Amino acid sequence: MSPYVRAHRGKTFVIAFSGDALLESANHQLMSDVVLLQSLGVRVTLVHGARPQIEQRLSEAGIKTPFKDSARITNVFAMEHVKQAVGSARLTIESCLSKNISNFSLQIPAAGVIGGNFVVAKPKGVIDGVDYLHTGEIRRIDSSGIQRQLDNNAIVLLSPIGFSPTGESFNLSYQDVATEAAIALEADKLIFVGKKNGISLDGIVQNSFSLIALKALLSETNLLSSNDTKLLTCAYRACKKKVARVHLIGFSEDGALLSELFTRDGIGTLVSQDYSETLRAASIDDVSEILNLISPLEKQGKLAKRSRELLETEISYFFVADHPDGFLLGCAALYPMGIESSRELACVVTHPDFQDMGIASRLLALIEQQAADQGVLQLFVLTTQATHWFQEKGFIETTFNELPEDRKLLYNYQRNSKILKKLL
Ligand SMILES: CC(C)(COP(=O)(O)OP(=O)(O)OC[C@H]1O[C@@H](n2cnc3c(N)ncnc32)[C@H](O)[C@@H]1OP(=O)(O)O)[C@@H](O)C(=O)NCCC(=O)NCCS
Repeated sequence: MSPYVRAHRGKTFVIAFSGDALLESANHQLMSDVVLLQSLGVRVTLVHGARPQIEQRLSEAGIKTPFKDSARITNVFAMEHVKQAVGSARLTIESCLSKNISNFSLQIPAAGVIGGNFVVAKPKGVIDGVDYLHTGEIRRIDSSGIQRQLDNNAIVLLSPIGFSPTGESFNLSYQDVATEAAIALEADKLIFVGKKNGISLDGIVQNSFSLIALKALLSETNLLSSNDTKLLTCAYRACKKKVARVHLIGFSEDGALLSELFTRDGIGTLVSQDYSETLRAASIDDVSEILNLISPLEKQGKLAKRSRELLETEISYFFVADHPDGFLLGCAALYPMGIESSRELACVVTHPDFQDMGIASRLLALIEQQAADQGVLQLFVLTTQATHWFQEKGFIETTFNELPEDRKLLYNYQRNSKILKKLL
């Protein structure tokens, strides 16, 4: 879990949950997970829906409201019930969050739950001759107002009602509020928590969509329910507008939010710009993370021990692979040897959660390319437990006598590493 805890600290997440989530008492767990995230240093903005609560109030009052393109046409009478339903839902959330904030012994205590007039709305207007009345659209999100509260460690709670500068209230879709908030806040993640877990096609929950795949899917209108179309359209818009990742998860699974955020594959559907790790030369800022990556392997005898001081002086020999969320997936080093035409490959490591995805192979290919560009003719590697991995990459076992003289002097007989060589 630890690389994610570090990676998520200081990041901005917008978490949106449907009104159904509030009806389930088990979803007080969801609130507790939200408070836990905040305590780990995540900047959390919550957005809630209230459709079932609104339905219930309207039906009790005997008011019928037509829908057009999945949006309710909210007349002035219905709007009063919308306000009551949203207000009541909001109080439930606030009380639940308050309970959790006081129950936790928090690393970073939350400065409470903050609401306010952060969402500026305008009427949807008349479309194809139909007046949407008090159903509105988002005109602007007061992102600097929200950021100030997040800076102060507050959890910001946004409701699906917005106000116009003239003081009128408008009924909004919570998915739109969440999407526009995520865009305005330049959020790192937008997370939709709904009744269903992720998006299923042919009964199978889809692990992820790239933007290209999502665009193609959205153009095939008959494959998706109207709710899934709405969520995916929001996800597409958010990603296009530079929100790095959008997660779609269900609330019924215990700990769904934490499983999605703290495990490699997650449980729901992820929409992101195409995934790819970044390979780059390491910098001094990477030393701590490299140490975290290699110390367990040093204890297992897979790598030779390196102190922080040594790593700091040798950091310019290292290359790293970054996860799109910003933490290190792997590293490898290319050390000079006494002979200009020879280099030593060392410390090739991939984070255990991300092995067998080709990361070390791609790091090796980058290093070999760089070495060849610099006129290096042969690469050596000394390894205790990865001989076969290097052999599959074209290295062949060789003898101690083949090592350049300066490297012979440093050979650790206790480790008894195998020596392999590759001609470039
Ligand atoms: C060796 C290591 C760097 C490979 O990282 P990786 O990113 O998983 O590698 P890739 O995805 O490019 O390759 C995975 C393949 O190598 C195989 N492999 C992994 N470790 C291996 C080993 N020690 N010996 C033989 N094969 C190995 C995997 O089974 C997989 O095979 P497959 O493609 O047939 O399923 C990683 O296992 C590691 O960090 N090991 C511990 C550190 C170490 O020993 N480093 C070498 C000393 S310098």
